Amino acid sequence: MFSLDINSVRSILQNTLPSFQASNTEEMNLGFGQLYYGFTRAIRPRRALVIGSKKGFSVICVALGMRDNEGYGISHLECYKTSLASKEKPILDFVDPSYSVDRGDANHMHGIGFWDEEKTVRDWWARFDVEDHVVHYKDTSQIYLERLSEGIQFDLIIVDGDHSPEGIRFDFEAFLPKLSDRGIAFAHDVHPEVRHGGWTAYEQLDVQVYEKLRLPIYPGLALIRRRNSTIAGVTIDKR
Ligand SMILES: C[S@@+](CC[C@H](N)C(=O)[O-])C[C@H]1O[C@@H](n2cnc3c(N)ncnc32)[C@H](O)[C@@H]1O
Repeated sequence: MFSLDINSVRSILQNTLPSFQASNTEEMNLGFGQLYYGFTRAIRPRRALVIGSKKGFSVICVALGMRDNEGYGISHLECYKTSLASKEKPILDFVDPSYSVDRGDANHMHGIGFWDEEKTVRDWWARFDVEDHVVHYKDTSQIYLERLSEGIQFDLIIVDGDHSPEGIRFDFEAFLPKLSDRGIAFAHDVHPEVRHGGWTAYEQLDVQVYEKLRLPIYPGLALIRRRNSTIAGVTIDKR
């Protein structure tokens, strides 16, 4: 399946308030959203985690990729074909306490309180046909972590929640070790000119443990993965 037709791209851009996502609504350009969708199609995540989103831009781009994948994992690779490990539904955990700049919530990070009402949130996912894939946790990432079962791993993570230096460092330290062997994390707002704390936290990542790459586009989007990860369990036909 392929969802990114002109109508869905227009609807995402016009409705989800992508803030500093290198997008352009007039040009129908999803910017970083294209990466969120594209990486989801390539990695075929079983479980993804998005921390923080104003009105769902990143969540919907990943969830549409999950829906289009029609399953998850890679079991076998050939020159012109990639086989799924499972036809079961992949799931995205979306963590956002619904802080609001207008309410003056501490640490609002320019949130708009959009995730206040459970029904509005459910209807929002349904509007984009991704309601089977997204589970919203109206919590901070700290509380979400406390309730997360041991041993859970994520194939895709987007860190875009609490942008304070402590907040980003917490999300890195708590969730990057939970990347699966084939997992990739995106971290938003890690350009040195962004005043929050992303750049410092990004620079402090231990390069013995993580490989990282920062796209030189304001406000900075980094790709991070655990070093020494493997592709165990995948058969490959190299003919
Ligand atoms: C406004 S978003 C960033 C905008 C994003 N670049 C976009 O385009 O959607 C930041 C979000 O982080 C959330 N947030 C703040 N602190 C958080 C925390 N500790 N854990 C999870 N989310 C948090 C806020 O509620 C807000 O919705």
